[in-house]
Amino acid sequence: MKVLKLAGKQNTSKIMIEKGILREAAEFCRTKSTVAAPSKICVITDSNVAGLYLKELEKRLSDLNIPLFHHIVSAGEEHKNLETVSRIYDALSEHNFGRDDMIIALGGGVTGDIAGFAAATYLRGIRHLIQIPTTLLAQVDSSVGGKTGVDLPQGKNLVGAFRQPDLVLIDPELLDTLPENVYRSGMAEVIKYGCISDPELLELAFKTDHKKHAKEEDKDRIMELIERCVRIKIKVVEADETEEGLRRILNFGHTIGHGVEKLGNFTKLSHGEAVAIGMAAAVKIGESIGITRDGCYEKLVSILQSFSLPSGLTDPVDKVYGAMLSDKKKQGDGIHFVLIEEFGKAQVKKIPVAELKNMMKVLGD
Ligand SMILES: NC(=O)c1ccc[n+]([C@@H]2O[C@H](COP(=O)([O-])OP(=O)(O)OC[C@H]3O[C@@H](n4cnc5c(N)ncnc54)[C@H](O)[C@@H]3O)[C@@H](O)[C@H]2O)c1
Ligand SMILES: [Zn+2]
Repeated sequence: MKVLKLAGKQNTSKIMIEKGILREAAEFCRTKSTVAAPSKICVITDSNVAGLYLKELEKRLSDLNIPLFHHIVSAGEEHKNLETVSRIYDALSEHNFGRDDMIIALGGGVTGDIAGFAAATYLRGIRHLIQIPTTLLAQVDSSVGGKTGVDLPQGKNLVGAFRQPDLVLIDPELLDTLPENVYRSGMAEVIKYGCISDPELLELAFKTDHKKHAKEEDKDRIMELIERCVRIKIKVVEADETEEGLRRILNFGHTIGHGVEKLGNFTKLSHGEAVAIGMAAAVKIGESIGITRDGCYEKLVSILQSFSLPSGLTDPVDKVYGAMLSDKKKQGDGIHFVLIEEFGKAQVKKIPVAELKNMMKVLGD
């Protein structure tokens, strides 16, 4: 079992990675705190994951002898909004949840972001938050690092809070039930880590057989992929928890990515597919302005293609630019745009919006 720690300003997250760890959830969810052990637990999950893993988790948690509730949100990014959060508040208040109680998020990045946000805000913050990520994307990225939030009609993740989970239980066996396209979407964030920090990840991802019934050694490679991504995330978040500098590199591919994701009404493209398009665009722009080494674009496109991920814009450049402008990463009249110099080396450049519009012309070619 791998046990990693992320030291945040308010609290430290413990991150455990092990096949089958879901079955040991009760042991790890048992809080050692004597002053404020939870008197209630609420598991928040989505309508797909509920049918797969909720029963198993609840069976294990019943060993804790703590009253247990669950709340099921409708699956899909289109439900990552304030209305869904409001229904969670209703459920928590109906069951008299207090500040010392516990929320467990069981699901992908959407569930984790929603449940984490509810935990960060209900009663100004619930003491115990546990993330049990069930998608590749959530295991390599969203469950770690404490960013939580929901979308507004104006754009992605426009309302949110920072809240480090106390514990993240990563069970790679849960990936066995993932639809192939959801798995591939998670690979986009793995590729992101490869691009900004660890080019060997790209090689490792490439030589791994990602099929469901792959050999044990490939499953071990997937565990290694997850661990390497989590280690990068920990390092970056510990250096800059609230995204005032270094953490911005994690937004590589996300500025243009969020634009195309929004244009597809959060349903046409998955988050990972949108990020794939955004990364290819950032590298193409980088090459055209002489920051990114020539050849990176071609290599990135071939890597994305090998995972059946898209690389070209889905809409005309002007429309994508318009959609991007409502993104929260805009600051004043500039956007912090993440570029790579070469694989493994990221650079954040504050670009005036008008200049970015000009740079994006290359994407129409
Ligand atoms: N907070 C962060 O730091 C951060 C980082 C990256 C991404 N995100 C967010 O994460 C979200 C995307 O997450 P996602 O790709 O996990 O999407 P998701 O949570 O919507 O999951 C994708 C689909 O897979 C289903 N599913 C989940 N686990 C399953 C399993 N084990 N077996 C079968 N089906 C399963 C879900 O029900 C859903 O239909 C986006 O909203 C993005 O903004 C947040
Ligand atoms: Zn992302």
